[in-house]
Amino acid sequence: MPEASQVKQPIGVFDSGVGGLSILKALRAELPREDFVYVADSGFAPYGERDQGFVLARARAITRDLMSQPGLAIQALVIACNTATAAAIHLLRREHSDLPIIGVEPALKPAIALSQTRRIGVMATRGTLNSQKFRTLLAGLADQAQFVCQPCDGLADAIERDDAEKIIGLCRQYTKDMGQFGSQAGDIDTLVLGCTHYPFASERLQALVGPGVRLVDNGEPVARQTHRMLTSLSPDSAPGQCRLFSTGDPDLLQSAARRWLNIDVPVQRLLI
Ligand code: DGL
Repeated sequence: MPEASQVKQPIGVFDSGVGGLSILKALRAELPREDFVYVADSGFAPYGERDQGFVLARARAITRDLMSQPGLAIQALVIACNTATAAAIHLLRREHSDLPIIGVEPALKPAIALSQTRRIGVMATRGTLNSQKFRTLLAGLADQAQFVCQPCDGLADAIERDDAEKIIGLCRQYTKDMGQFGSQAGDIDTLVLGCTHYPFASERLQALVGPGVRLVDNGEPVARQTHRMLTSLSPDSAPGQCRLFSTGDPDLLQSAARRWLNIDVPVQRLLI
């Protein structure tokens, strides 16, 4: 457990857009006195249907910016995006070896622990599912369960824009494509939300797959891991503050933060 020190440095968090707010929510619950700086790369979202080189370049630019903003000096970076983690975490760790960098990956191991039927659905972006990092993870667990992997083109973008009709249509289509959900042998009884945008569609997904199916995401484990990796904790007893930045439409982030996290602060436009 890290000691409290006199220096208060924020934790940087970024995603392609508003999805990483699902991770920020878990981080704030785990580390309520820490300050956070959140960057939504909405001007360049979605990442999931782009090539890895593009996502890597964006991740590098955002990390450099977060480290060089006057007065920010982040103490750790959380890549609150499965797609960017798969594309960039190894390189970012090499380039910033002094900075603790925490990533997110689809929660396959927790899903195995929960599944009775050993048939597990995985919803993620095409970029995540095609990445070497995910393939290696999957190959290492293939003897423990059957994974039905579903690329969900367009779903993160629909959530980003809060397009309810499109969210419902895509959730219906993708859950149907995955096959039978339920608790009988051969049914999918556990569904991994392998993109940080998807927890914001979890009510709709739960209604489609039925109440007995477990939905699993990585917010809480990532928050606990971040806590373990911090070398200093805020000396303040007051709640931490959040600063929000967007490379795209600030209103999208502002209204999502208000709606989902009850954070009501102005969003600053970032030009990178
Ligand atoms: N939220 C991101 C993820 O976890 C990416 C969504 C997107 O931009 O396609 O993969």
